[in-house]
Amino acid sequence: MCGIVGYVGPQQALPILMNGLKRLEYRGYDSAGIALLSNSGLMVAKTAGKINVLEQKLSGTEIKSTQGIAHTRWATHGEPSQLNAHPHTDAEGEIALVHNGIIENFRTLREFLIQNGFTIRTETDTEILVHLIRFYYNGHLTEAVRIALNQVEGTYGIAVISAKHPNLIVAARMGSPLVIGHGEKEKLVASDVSALLEHTNRVVYLEDGEIATITPDYYDITTIQNVKISHRIHEVNMTLEEIEKGGFDHFMLKEIYEQPTTLRNAIRGRLNQEEGISRLNGLNLQYDELRNIKRIVITACGTSWHAGLIGEYMIEELARIPVEVEYASELRYRSPIFDEDTILFAISQSGETADTLAAMREAKKHGVTVLGLVNVVGSTIARETDGGVYIHAGPEIGVASTKAFTSQVMVLTLLTVLLGRMRQISVPAGQEFLEGIQKIPDKVERILKNCDQIKKIASAYYKKNNFLYLGRGINFPVALEGALKLKEISYIHAEGYPAAEMKHGPIALIDENMPVVVIALKDAVYDKVMSNISEIKARNGKIIAIANEGDTEIAERVNHVIYIPKTSRLLSPLLSIIPLQLLAYYIAVMRGCHVDQPRNLAKSVTVE
Ligand code: G6P
Repeated sequence: MCGIVGYVGPQQALPILMNGLKRLEYRGYDSAGIALLSNSGLMVAKTAGKINVLEQKLSGTEIKSTQGIAHTRWATHGEPSQLNAHPHTDAEGEIALVHNGIIENFRTLREFLIQNGFTIRTETDTEILVHLIRFYYNGHLTEAVRIALNQVEGTYGIAVISAKHPNLIVAARMGSPLVIGHGEKEKLVASDVSALLEHTNRVVYLEDGEIATITPDYYDITTIQNVKISHRIHEVNMTLEEIEKGGFDHFMLKEIYEQPTTLRNAIRGRLNQEEGISRLNGLNLQYDELRNIKRIVITACGTSWHAGLIGEYMIEELARIPVEVEYASELRYRSPIFDEDTILFAISQSGETADTLAAMREAKKHGVTVLGLVNVVGSTIARETDGGVYIHAGPEIGVASTKAFTSQVMVLTLLTVLLGRMRQISVPAGQEFLEGIQKIPDKVERILKNCDQIKKIASAYYKKNNFLYLGRGINFPVALEGALKLKEISYIHAEGYPAAEMKHGPIALIDENMPVVVIALKDAVYDKVMSNISEIKARNGKIIAIANEGDTEIAERVNHVIYIPKTSRLLSPLLSIIPLQLLAYYIAVMRGCHVDQPRNLAKSVTVE
């Protein structure tokens, strides 16, 4: 995720900004840059890759500057490269800007700027913003920023400096955090307190829709409608380590709790409620091409493969297109039947998984259109596909995937409604599905509030050596993913099964020592799942049920119930997985396991 640091004060800005960027490294990034203001004007240095590459580039440069802004970029629009890295400047090289977030209407703004004689040099949404500020600049930097931001739709945290305004940083926020640090006759601005905590623990948090005018001695905050605001200074009493994890004990827990936000990011700007359809322009496919798809093959590994299975249930049901989901490691070595009406979807958080990449390349050799569903922008899979959709989950640091999984599933719901509307579902049906999608983030938020009950259940079972997870229909892949989460981080043997398959094997394992997690939602197969529950109970298995709010009947038949809000059946995996992530997390913590970096596992498997 992108990071911002800015400094204005009496000290040399370069080392302060570089240290600040290093403090933000944990967020993940793919390029970095800095702009320093001195008597000779603005100096900008940018590089693709890590901060030490930027440091090497700057070594030996003698710049006396006490003011600057710096950025680590995690690409969203345009590949990670020196050109696309921030800061971006206007054509005259007078204004420099760093930006976190996504400008959704940047295409319209770009057209507007081109018509007004501006030349656009990069593929980024950010460059548009600096030109827009230049366009409205009339001797007052804060005002130019204010007018420009009034044209912007989307999210931003920005810091701007100008050669015409020494000792001034203008910062603004909408959806992307920004904090101002108060030192002794100096000010810092950052996307995250960890970048400024070495200098001060006195901070002011900017709120959405606010602009700050910052000089070494004072700051002034107004809304983008120019209403004056006063903010209380907070004293931060956390260690740096605690702050990087946002106050959570582990990155995995932080990422679990980020899901309401990451799910909102996955759908932002992609819903056309009026027509009951989604917009996924990155697929690079016209409506008639989408209509002509005869078969879809989804390939992936690990958690991403589970997301693919959920996609299969959704797409087949709503779009009536046959879907096959295959482990990439299998697909690459057999002789799959590919024809020109087949589309291959490669799903990958990292975009670098060796097997997924190889399977995808194999399909390409057969002339198949290959699309990607990827988190890391500019990754190899993203680059080599014919088109695709970024899931915008931000950097996932915990090895066990959580927020990337739900964002993958979320994007698959968008794909489903798009394909469905091309083929058989009506506008009202599409609208209803989209309404359900929009309510998911709030419902996830509600489930996350229930962590104490889940922790209590974890404490009753954390010493067990085996777990069984059961689900039916679209919640069968959720059972697989729940079991995978537990085995990855707690080293407990766990298996996921379709509930009805239990009697073909796993039932032999059930006794009073076997906890069985059953996803038992009020849908068409509810009664069948209840029969499975009776079979487990008859053998003294311990049952933890995931059930819908209001289902009081189930509470009498199982040992524990974790309630989740109701949603449509096809969207239910986005909710039912949340308690399973938390259950795995708490059990692993209670067993003293290294949750973020489990033994033997890698975040990105770039070897076979
Ligand atoms: C590794 C990770 C898993 C991930 C899998 C696929 O095994 O530990 O969490 O699901 O790779 O990775 P990808 O980046 O392709 O989604």
